[in-house]
Amino acid sequence: MNQEDEARRLDETDPLPTLRGEFLIPPAPGGPCAEAAYFAGNSLGLQPKSVAGRLREELDDWARLAVEAHTRGGRPWVDYHELLRGPAARLVGALPHEVVAMNSLTVNLHLMMASFYRPAGTRTRIVIEDAAFPSDSYAVASQAVHHGLDPAGTVVRLRPRDGEHTLHTEDVLAFLDREGGTVALVLLGGVNYLTGQLMDMAAITKAGRAAGAVVGWDLAHAAGNVPLRLHDWDVDFAAWCTYKYLNGGPGAVAGCFVHERHVRDASVPKLAGWWGTDPAVRFRMDPDIAPPASADAWQLSNPPIMALAPVLASLEIFDRVGMDALRAKSERLTGYLADRLAETGAEVVTPADPAARGSQLSVRVADAGGLVRRLAEARGVIADAREPDVVRLAPVPLYCTFHDCHRAAAALADLL
Ligand SMILES: Cc1ncc(COP(=O)(O)O)c(C=O)c1O
Repeated sequence: MNQEDEARRLDETDPLPTLRGEFLIPPAPGGPCAEAAYFAGNSLGLQPKSVAGRLREELDDWARLAVEAHTRGGRPWVDYHELLRGPAARLVGALPHEVVAMNSLTVNLHLMMASFYRPAGTRTRIVIEDAAFPSDSYAVASQAVHHGLDPAGTVVRLRPRDGEHTLHTEDVLAFLDREGGTVALVLLGGVNYLTGQLMDMAAITKAGRAAGAVVGWDLAHAAGNVPLRLHDWDVDFAAWCTYKYLNGGPGAVAGCFVHERHVRDASVPKLAGWWGTDPAVRFRMDPDIAPPASADAWQLSNPPIMALAPVLASLEIFDRVGMDALRAKSERLTGYLADRLAETGAEVVTPADPAARGSQLSVRVADAGGLVRRLAEARGVIADAREPDVVRLAPVPLYCTFHDCHRAAAALADLL
C-alpha cells in the first residue's frame, strides 16, 4: 500500500470518524485537490456549518422583536452569555460559576491582572516565557508601568537551555523554588504559540502557588486543543480566545476563568461595569454595585450577541464530541504527521513527546513565508509562518484528516 492509500485507510478506520462534514472547508488555492488541507486552525479555526443558522436566528429576533428580544427572543439576550457557561466550564475543567465568556483575550488578561497582579514589597516580578506571544509581553510590561515599576526589572522571561527551543518543567520549578519569593505573578502560555510546547500546568501552578505567587494561564493555544482541569489544578485565573481551536470566528468573544476561592472573596479588587452586578438588581439602576460570587463579576459591558452566537454553535460541537476523544485523535494525527515529517528530515522544534505537545508541529526552515506561500499555491496546503524561520502546522482533530497530513508531508518533502 502506498503512503496515500495508507493515509486514506487510517481515515476510514479511525475510532473517531472526522467531523469535517460539519465545517466549511476552504477551496485549495492551488494543487490537485479541490479542498484545502487546512493546518492553520491554531490561528483561525474553520467555520462550523451550524454558525450561519445560529446567527440568522438572532438577526431574525432583532428584526422581529427589536429591543424586546432581550427578554422575549428565542434565546433572550439578557441571559445569552449563560448559554455558554456550561460548555465552557466543561471545556476547561471548571465549575460553572468560575467561567464567563466576555471581551477578547488581551482585555481579559488585563482585567485579571487588575485584580490579581498586586506587587508589594520585594514581591513584584511577573514571570512569562521568553517566547511569549507579543501581546502578553506588552500587557505585562504595561502592568508594571501602571504600578510605577520598571518593566526591565519586573518582567522575567524564562529562556530555554542553550541550543534548545522549549522549556524543561524542572527548570521552571527550580526557578520558582529559588526566586519565587520575588514573584507576584506567573503568567505562561498553556501551549506555546510558537513551539507548540504543552506546559505541565498542574506542576507549575502548584509550584508557583507554593512560592506565594499568583498563577494565571494564557490558554489561547490550549483551549479546545488539550484537556484542561483548571479548578483541580488550583489555577488562580486563565483567559483564552475562541477563534483558534474553538472555531468561534475572527476576533470572537474570549473566555475567562477565575478560581472559586477568588469569586467568593469580596475583597478582591475588580474593575467594574454594569454587567458585573447581580442580574437580579441590575436594572434597578442603583449606583452601588452588588457583584455576584462568580466570574460574571468581572464582566463590564452587555455582551455582543452576534459575536457570541458562533461561539455557542462551536462549543456545542466540543460538548458533543468531548475533549478526551478529540485529544486522543489529535495524538494519532499529530503522531502520524510527526513520523512523516521525520522522513523528510525537517527540523521540528515541537517536543517529540506527545504528552508535551498539542495539535501543532512547528518546523524550522530558512524562509518560512516563502515556504508557506509555495505550500498553498503548489499543493493547497494552508500552514502559517512565524517569521523569520518557523512554519506551524496544526492537524486539528475536528476537521483535519490523515490524508491532509499526507498531503502536507508529501509537499514538504518536495519543497524543502
Ligand atoms: C498566545 C496568545 N496570546 C494572546 C493573543 C492575543 O489575542 P487577542 O488579540 O484576542 O487579544 C494571541 C493571539 O493570537 C495568542 O496566540
